[in-house]
Amino acid sequence: MTGDSSVNFNVLNRICKLVVVLCFLHIAVIFVFYVRSMDSPFGFRSQHSTRNDTKRQEAAVEPAEQAEQATEIKLEKCPETSPLLVGPLRVEFNTHVSLDQIKKDNPNVQLGGRYQPKDCEALQKVAIIIPFRNRDEHLKFWLHYLHPILQRQQLDYGVYIINQEGDETFNRAKLLNVGYVEALKEYDYDCFVFSDVDLIPMDDRNIYRCFQQPRHLSVSMDKFGYRLPYNQYFGGVSSMSKDQYLKINGFPNNYWGWGGEDDDIYNRLSFRGMSISRPDGEVGKCRMIRHDRDRQNDPNPQRFDRIAHTRDTMDKDGLNTLTYQLVSVEKLDLYTKITVNVGKP
Ligand code: BGC
Repeated sequence: MTGDSSVNFNVLNRICKLVVVLCFLHIAVIFVFYVRSMDSPFGFRSQHSTRNDTKRQEAAVEPAEQAEQATEIKLEKCPETSPLLVGPLRVEFNTHVSLDQIKKDNPNVQLGGRYQPKDCEALQKVAIIIPFRNRDEHLKFWLHYLHPILQRQQLDYGVYIINQEGDETFNRAKLLNVGYVEALKEYDYDCFVFSDVDLIPMDDRNIYRCFQQPRHLSVSMDKFGYRLPYNQYFGGVSSMSKDQYLKINGFPNNYWGWGGEDDDIYNRLSFRGMSISRPDGEVGKCRMIRHDRDRQNDPNPQRFDRIAHTRDTMDKDGLNTLTYQLVSVEKLDLYTKITVNVGKP
């Protein structure tokens, strides 16, 4: 063998070794990437997960996490007209109703009288505000009839009973103001229905929600021969959006005793350029539970004078001057009971 050929052989031998080492290196790199692209017990994961990877991840989520994710899924909006409505209803007050039975009949109503539709996102969040004192029998009928109706109307709602503490003269409008403030402390309501405790709608198409204009809902009451007592009448049951309520500085606080406060509210709305929307006389039918006049709720002799001055008083008396003492907030099965001291005349 010549010196030249031995040098050539050595060079070839080194090149071959280098090629073998490079091959090993190459295989090693491929192996590492391969392992990283799999769900391996070594904990490697690909940065770019494929659709299948996502599925695998979902399958690996714990049941508790799955439940959490499910509640986060955005529901479709409820339809403009609920498909659950049935129309005219039979309303009578000679049967016995018990809170236990009402609770059993409405298993989806949550503590505090809260409800949200399960299958769709309600169009409005409605606080139902009821001024109250010593009317438990009427309240039972209200809960018995209204909870099923409000659920069929697919509302996201809460029921607030605003109970005036003590024996001083009753003040309906001030209690309604309290209801507005207290309900908003709990939830981001965008609509407020103000209802007397003794009024029951006779048709579930009379939707307890808000409209473009303030709404009068109790438009044909049995007490008035199923028609409006006068065109400006705004008593019984009404609804207002937050904006509409704020525009009129809420309700007056100084109507003590029966009458006039609803007329003052009507004046406020019309002075702020709003009109009243109403359902038709058939859909707007409702029944009132007959009762004697409450103690400490005699007709207010000052009401005529006060109604005559709404334009001057509305900015000085209302939500901006509301004061009261909160006595208690009770979360009961079918409603939230808020007891307040609203003072005296
Ligand atoms: C009173 C109102 C009441 C209406 C119907 C009016 O005289 O001022 O407060 O709602 O009568 O009873």
